[in-house]
Amino acid sequence: MGAVVIILSYLLGSISFSILVAKKIAKIDIRQHGSGNAGATNTLRVLGKGPGIAVLLLDAAKGAIAVGIAYWLSRGEDWVVVFSGVAAIIGHNWPIFFGFRGGKGVATTIGTLIALTPLPALIAVIITIAVIAITRYVSLGSLVFFTLIPIILIVNGASLTYIIGTLAIAALGYIRHIDNIKRLIRGTERKLGQSKR
Ligand code: G3P
Repeated sequence: MGAVVIILSYLLGSISFSILVAKKIAKIDIRQHGSGNAGATNTLRVLGKGPGIAVLLLDAAKGAIAVGIAYWLSRGEDWVVVFSGVAAIIGHNWPIFFGFRGGKGVATTIGTLIALTPLPALIAVIITIAVIAITRYVSLGSLVFFTLIPIILIVNGASLTYIIGTLAIAALGYIRHIDNIKRLIRGTERKLGQSKR
């Protein structure tokens, strides 16, 4: 039963809203524009604020909904709930419906974590927004977000399942941001509002 719920979460995560929205409103494959990433930041970059915010909310919602459905179907069984969240993020990053070429999982991670562990997630979101506002690097803010969650949970003495789950989420985030990390180090990362590499 737990495995079925986790697979369902992967399928839900595989619904990539940046790809769907960009195709619907501009008839383009978002993965061939801007940074090439199927995510909210690149939708904002390529299509503007409205579509960017819509994708952010929809991609976050699918993470939260995956956790909610898992909680309901498993009657709150910790490992099923946590790893359904992880599966939704994997679905977003490597979507079965879009040739396994998805995004970097930031919005979906935010939604997943707000559902899994609301207060630490909100604290991390606030710090992340501050980092992005100060540096103008969305990727740097995203990396701070991925890093903060397991740290906050470890400090608060959360259960091992939550700690392992959020460490796995952080690892996925770092893997998907390798190119961003290289550009940040080289000083060639795009800032918010900058369309060229
Ligand atoms: O939303 C992912 C963000 O951290 C970086 O996206 O398009 O600038 O590589 P992008």
